Amino acid sequence: MTTLDLKGAPLLVVGAGIMGAGIAQVAAQSGHAVQLFDTREGAAAQAKAKLGNTLQGLVAKGKLSSDAAATALARITPVDALDEAAAAQLVVEAIVEDLAVKRTLFKQLEALVEPGCVLATNTSSISVTALAAGLAHPGRLVGMHFFNPVPLMKLVEVVSGLHTDAEVAQAVFALAGTWGKVAVHARSTPGFIVNRIARPYYAEALALLLEQAATPQVLDACLRAAGFRMGPCELMDLIGHDTNFAVTQSVFEANFFDKRYAPSLVQREMVDGGLLGRKSGRGFYRHEGTGPGAGALPVAVHEAPATAREVTVHGAGPIADHLQRGATQALAAQGWGPARRDDSPWVGVEVDGARLVLSTGRTAGEIAAQEGPADVAVFDRPLAAQASGTLPAGTALAYAVAPQASVAWRTQAPAWLAALGFTPLPVADTPGLVVARTVAMLVNEAADAVLQGVCTPAGADAAMKLGVNYPAGPFEWLAHWSAAELLALLDALDAQYRGERYRASPWLRRHALI
Ligand code: NAI
Repeated sequence: MTTLDLKGAPLLVVGAGIMGAGIAQVAAQSGHAVQLFDTREGAAAQAKAKLGNTLQGLVAKGKLSSDAAATALARITPVDALDEAAAAQLVVEAIVEDLAVKRTLFKQLEALVEPGCVLATNTSSISVTALAAGLAHPGRLVGMHFFNPVPLMKLVEVVSGLHTDAEVAQAVFALAGTWGKVAVHARSTPGFIVNRIARPYYAEALALLLEQAATPQVLDACLRAAGFRMGPCELMDLIGHDTNFAVTQSVFEANFFDKRYAPSLVQREMVDGGLLGRKSGRGFYRHEGTGPGAGALPVAVHEAPATAREVTVHGAGPIADHLQRGATQALAAQGWGPARRDDSPWVGVEVDGARLVLSTGRTAGEIAAQEGPADVAVFDRPLAAQASGTLPAGTALAYAVAPQASVAWRTQAPAWLAALGFTPLPVADTPGLVVARTVAMLVNEAADAVLQGVCTPAGADAAMKLGVNYPAGPFEWLAHWSAAELLALLDALDAQYRGERYRASPWLRRHALI
């Protein structure tokens, strides 16, 4: 048996919009003869002219030789009718996101191309299984989901529906590699990998905003400090609230209205009010005039903490070690250092009986009520420290003080966090605060995707790092946390909010026992 090899295959790209043009560029630069078709008259020729400018831009920046640019451009041929592309061995469809229109196109193509020609769809939300239904050779239809901008984004999700031949998926997977991409196999389920696992990144920010637990500025600062390139609110402003709301609704509907994916009232109100983000000039932030820019935080100055008699660092592991270094530095001027109790059941710092506790899901109020001292504050997970144990000075970190705490502790808790090297940002006393809660939900979603055979753990990690630039993959975060602790946090969220959203994945429950 010969394996299907698409390297250098004559290619037809249907749809000369943002994605189609990008796909044509990458394929032409990888040596394919590319025909480009669009139903809008002149669109394919316009796209080629624009690609000519793009390639010239790369030449000017020294990223491409002028010969390579000319050769790539010469490989692209706009066609006026689909019939001209009968010799294609691979078709990549990047037309309007509409099941009926895409189905009609694939039927038309089947009547035209040879039975061995692979049909790939760049759909971001339509079921690959549904698109293949009714085709004479449904096994040749596969998802080839690129990310925008195609020439820059490394990820391609290779999506198999129920009909897709394994050989076809494998051929497209290998081809993506020759285009300089990293391919990841995905099963056709709503949102595939990236758009599904990423939902909580927005959803948890919106849930916290709905209950006024934190401002957009604070949420963005915390998640940026955790290594994300953009905070959820500034990112939603960039994507556009209308687009993001539509994707959320489609994932919600596609999951039979599972409450876990329910859109937020915050989102709907923004859309109803025309606050669409950058494109309308205002979303969570003002993007025109003199309003505060995205992420601008009020500057808070924390005084040095009051002199303490006894300071103890509790717990083991990289985060406790980081606290130990911070406490040692904070106390050095007074000529003494902290004690360490690494057999302690909690991670944090105790100052004369008052506690700064790493959030595990229990709120500061609960800890104070259940364990005695009223002076408790919880602080968020310094995510970047869990792997390396180090953090830049001044890293933003959310914290919450127990409602029972003394007036003095309300100022001492942030003063100590500042002395330990953080920029403390107050939020409401909610389970998992900002980063721990968001990341736990991302891992939970990834665990469910793996449980359902959508992707492998390594596939999920690669997809989230390359498709949405996450600083680490969900299973990499998990490797430095623990399934049991993460599960405890999800269960704490579930106990507080009830309902389906914080339902823990059975995959995590099983791994928590190992
Ligand atoms: P676009 O609106 O920029 O381009 C679509 C093009 O398809 C238009 O030029 C339109 O004239 C043409 N078209 C519509 N119906 C056609 C037909 N029946 N035959 C031939 N051409 C037709 O859209 P964009 O953003 O390039 O998206 C295309 C596809 O890629 C959609 O399925 C979308 O969901 C998917 N996608 C989009 C991403 C994005 O960030 N824009 C990311 C990943 C996937």
